[in-house]
Amino acid sequence: MKKYLLITVILIIILSSMFMVLYTGASQNIPVYSDEFFKIAVTFYGNTSTSRAFSFFTRSHSYENNCYIQLDPAPYEQQKPKFFDIDNILIKADSEYTASTWPKQLRHKAYVDNLSPATKYFYRVGCKKTNEWSDYGYFVTDDKDSNFCFLHITDSQGKNQEDFHAFGKSLQKAYEIQSDYDFIVSTGDQVELGVNARQWDMYFASAQSFLLQTTFAPVNGNHELVPQPVSNHFYLNLDSKLIEYTFEYGDAVFVILDSNNSLYDEQIEYLRNVFQNTDKKWKIAAFHYAPFSSGTHADDKNVLNVKEKIVPVLADCGVDLVLNGHDHIYCRTYPINSEGNIGTWQYAAETALDDGGVKYTYTNPQGVFYVINRCVGTKFYSKSNLFNDRFIQKGDSSNFSKPVFSTVKVSRNSLIYTAYEYDRNNTESVKIWDCFEIIKQS
Ligand SMILES: [Fe+2]
Repeated sequence: MKKYLLITVILIIILSSMFMVLYTGASQNIPVYSDEFFKIAVTFYGNTSTSRAFSFFTRSHSYENNCYIQLDPAPYEQQKPKFFDIDNILIKADSEYTASTWPKQLRHKAYVDNLSPATKYFYRVGCKKTNEWSDYGYFVTDDKDSNFCFLHITDSQGKNQEDFHAFGKSLQKAYEIQSDYDFIVSTGDQVELGVNARQWDMYFASAQSFLLQTTFAPVNGNHELVPQPVSNHFYLNLDSKLIEYTFEYGDAVFVILDSNNSLYDEQIEYLRNVFQNTDKKWKIAAFHYAPFSSGTHADDKNVLNVKEKIVPVLADCGVDLVLNGHDHIYCRTYPINSEGNIGTWQYAAETALDDGGVKYTYTNPQGVFYVINRCVGTKFYSKSNLFNDRFIQKGDSSNFSKPVFSTVKVSRNSLIYTAYEYDRNNTESVKIWDCFEIIKQS
């Protein structure tokens, strides 16, 4: 009997040891979720079909030059990543301390190319050595088909938790309206004070779940003050010290200008070079200061400078649409020609929309449509002057306190801009505030 008892005890010890070894080994291979990795953003960097850039932060210096981005290509329908597929991609990130974060945070950035076009990539960021990883996100590379959709937002411009919470609600509502947008363009003033690191932390905390699901194209606003707050939080393919860059998507080319800076000649040369050397059908520019506005900033000197210098070039280059911010009201112009007057069009039509709004359609317009998209945050201004009124077909006539966000749907012959006003504090409902379509028949 004693003999059997001894054998049983020995067997239990051996099996327990084996289990311990197996368990310990397995636990070392199980990835651990960690919120150490924060302020994660994906941006365009070169070819939108084959490349992306990543930026994220950690607080501990132990992650210095120890971080990676893991990519998991997957069928579009796949809802969750696997991350252990054989086709996974690991990219080492460079680490650096930036001046615009406090307390000191370590910024990690990496760029990847040779991606497959028209492919969904799940990703997460983290430390390979400790097997700690962030929450996962995804983006879809451009299929170069002419159909795509993006979200235009502006002036989230928060300074406290309440502001950024409201901003997050606006993003949530936009996602409910149009969840499959390919990217977001934000036309500046992401935060109230660009050099205040705490505001960026709150900005990302509110926007993170949405930024994880798309590619983000930021514009520099006057509240960012200098280029560094934007370039330190988003890894951009910049050609100069300004937040000035370009990307192509579908059959469209985008130029982002930095209207904070008065190097107009350089920016004019830049935008001429891009827009005159493209075969893309749609030309879209984005910058913060709005040359056509009936808001409080309409006759500020720096705004008038942009109007005098940049506006004629945009029309000259055949730009279709300009996305602006700054005035925190909604203003959308008729097409504006290079003389700064209302241009011409072949046909115009007004169509009633289901929710009571109107869609304005312009066929073969000669001129540029300018849009100030009110704001997606909490800071609302009033209409203040008649300076530009005759150029504005749809504008706010008094003080509004409901945020606006817009979808822009581009296809082969048509671009439809739809602005939604969101009753954030009361009914939570959304109504179409403006809708206009540009049809190009050529
Ligand atoms: Fe602003």
